Amino acid sequence: MRKPMIIVFAAGALTLPTALLAADPAAGKIFWNTEYSQADSSPARRCATCHGQDLTQPGRHAKTGKTIEPLAPSVNPQRLTDPQKVEKWLLRNCNWTLGRDCTGTEKADVISYIKTQ
Ligand code: HEC
Repeated sequence: MRKPMIIVFAAGALTLPTALLAADPAAGKIFWNTEYSQADSSPARRCATCHGQDLTQPGRHAKTGKTIEPLAPSVNPQRLTDPQKVEKWLLRNCNWTLGRDCTGTEKADVISYIKTQ
């Protein structure tokens, strides 16, 4: 009899695989483009602020001006292949953009959206 395979990721990534089961790419796209106003009244931020709206194109870091390689796996196959990298950047980017951590659902939705690009 085949046993179900259990994949265990390092600590932070734990919520991702379970949440992905119910992921909604359409909701992820809306999330991607939603602007979040800032407590210090600096300009509103969204994921697209640095990564752009077309994920197959390079982005531009809002603070440093550095080019960010495209997030779309269709043109950049290394994307979303390392769960620890994804968690690390979601933690950092969610806090910068939303002023808080993203919820498990927000992460799952946005990752499923990026995967379709
Ligand atoms: C302040 C600029 C900035 C904003 C805003 C931003 N990111 Fe990023 N993001 C980066 C940088 C820089 C990297 C790491 C460099 C790289 O991987 O090219 C990165 C990497 C990522 C990665 C890692 C992808 C991989 O597997 O290589 C994901 C996923 C991601 N961002 C999603 C998001 C989401 C979702 C949002 C909105 C909540 C967001 N980012 C907002 C700058 C930003």
